Amino acid sequence: MWILSLIGLIILISFAYAANAGAPWVPTWKKDFERIIKLADLKPGETFIELGCGNGRVCRAVAAHAKNAHVIGLELSLLQVWISWLQVKLSGLTNIQIKLGNAFHADLSSVDVVYMFLMPETYEKIRPKLEAELKPGARVITYVWAIPGWTPDVINEAEGSQKIFLFQR
Ligand SMILES: C[S@@+](CC[C@H](N)C(=O)[O-])C[C@H]1O[C@@H](n2cnc3c(N)ncnc32)[C@H](O)[C@@H]1O
Repeated sequence: MWILSLIGLIILISFAYAANAGAPWVPTWKKDFERIIKLADLKPGETFIELGCGNGRVCRAVAAHAKNAHVIGLELSLLQVWISWLQVKLSGLTNIQIKLGNAFHADLSSVDVVYMFLMPETYEKIRPKLEAELKPGARVITYVWAIPGWTPDVINEAEGSQKIFLFQR
């Protein structure tokens, strides 16, 4: 019994830690996946990374659409990572990788598209890392909020949905 309590405690701590490190878990709306996929405009061989991928639902939708692209989901909360791993396994998708890790420690140097749904203050904190590491031509897509200090190239709006911002480096 104590082992179950310990696992539960570890899951809770990692959930709270992730919420504090960037954003609590709130999923991107499924009806907005298509707009994200269109904005990402992934070409064969390109790499898409989602920083804070939650249960990996956006990653799976992107990977299913762009089968010749490489999709990475990075997540700090243990339970979400386990759920993502299971869902990826069940999906049969082979072009997707879910990793346990902190967005602030990710290597973004070979990434073509970054997708994030984090808090505005987290966007502000991660902005210098994006500026330092992303290659020219890389695209950054954010959900709900723009990155403070950057001018979006596209503000994608849809009635009854959230705003999606595209930034081209
Ligand atoms: C608002 S939710 C969005 C989840 C998912 N991207 C989606 O759109 O459905 C933010 C997610 O980022 C994770 N997160 C927060 N800070 C993080 C960090 N520094 N590194 C990795 N993941 C982080 C949280 O655990 C949470 O699952």
